[in-house]
Amino acid sequence: MSYEELMLRAITKAEKFKFTAKPNPVVGAIIIKDNEIISEGYHEIFGENHAEINAIEEAKKLLGKKFQSFSELTLICTLEPCSHKGKTGSCADFIVKTGIKHIVIGAIDPNPKVAGNGIKILKDNGILVEIGLLKHLVEKQNKFFFYKHKNKKPYITVKIASSIDGKSHYSGERVFITSQSSRNDVQKIRAEYDAILTGGNTLRNDNPKMNARVDFHTNQPKKILLTNNTYNEGFDFFKNASVDVFKINNLKKIIDSYANSEVCSILIEAGPKLVNAFLNEGIVDELIVYSSTKKLGENGINWFYEDNAIENYGFKLESSYKIDTDLKEIFIKNE
Ligand SMILES: NC(=O)c1ccc[n+]([C@@H]2O[C@H](COP(=O)([O-])OP(=O)(O)OC[C@H]3O[C@@H](n4cnc5c(N)ncnc54)[C@H](OP(=O)(O)O)[C@@H]3O)[C@@H](O)[C@H]2O)c1
Repeated sequence: MSYEELMLRAITKAEKFKFTAKPNPVVGAIIIKDNEIISEGYHEIFGENHAEINAIEEAKKLLGKKFQSFSELTLICTLEPCSHKGKTGSCADFIVKTGIKHIVIGAIDPNPKVAGNGIKILKDNGILVEIGLLKHLVEKQNKFFFYKHKNKKPYITVKIASSIDGKSHYSGERVFITSQSSRNDVQKIRAEYDAILTGGNTLRNDNPKMNARVDFHTNQPKKILLTNNTYNEGFDFFKNASVDVFKINNLKKIIDSYANSEVCSILIEAGPKLVNAFLNEGIVDELIVYSSTKKLGENGINWFYEDNAIENYGFKLESSYKIDTDLKEIFIKNE
């Protein structure tokens, strides 16, 4: 297998741990001797071993059997090994101690705590380091992680369910607009995000759980509540969840406060007031709209004012799908 094929294998197999590694990036590592794979390791669970450590621990079991010294081996790693002690110690130092002499890295870690420092440790210790193999795929795979560090803010997506006449709900009343299949799809989207944000009215009117109810293991998103009112922690939103409550109205400030946190992505699931406030602030990166054939009529509350069609907020349609009789459209902010 070529280095490129091995890197692709590490990227593909790392994807399996997308929901349990988050909000960390997924990372894969493969150790080879000549053309033979000696071991593989993945960052499987947030807070547990990084990929390189798992691959090295596996390889150690074969020392003296399949190889005589780590200096005979090459490590292929999708992301730069970390240089900070963190929860598990520095991977770069750990690699140096093994005596490995050659490393092929996909992408440089954009986290300012690492950002080339891991590579420096490796090079300073005489390791031959090659950088950038299939970098674009590693960045795509960890889109939210790279976005957050590049833009110093989490990636913000607004998800809405709309009736065919562009309405969100009846005043003070919860209505299910879209089909069960669309609502199941929303559960999967929730599982992809690090946090879910809503407002006080939605909390009081709907008593939503807003957790990811999926049939695979996932780290549940953190919850964020924006309210200027007193609130009651008896609402389902607070059950088995870590909730940040903000009593300030400056939305940009709220989002920016996550720049140095582990949260790389936030899914906003709120009503028209808060959604429009976020869109007007210009800090939304993506909009997911589920539209049904149901009509709410003149008593329904509009999602957008007439002049404020989604396109007028600076979004363009990226893709659309049919889900039963509903339509799912994804809009991305214009560059
Ligand atoms: N169709 C859908 O996809 C969907 C999704 C979610 C909700 N909904 C519906 O939307 C209805 C509520 O809509 P909504 O927009 O009135 O309520 P919302 O989603 O709760 O958002 C508005 C609330 O957010 C809080 N807030 C904090 N800072 C704000 C700011 N800068 N700008 C605006 N709000 C801020 C306020 O809470 P306080 O009043 O507590 O201060 C405000 O009342 C619910 O009844 C629900 O059924 C529909």
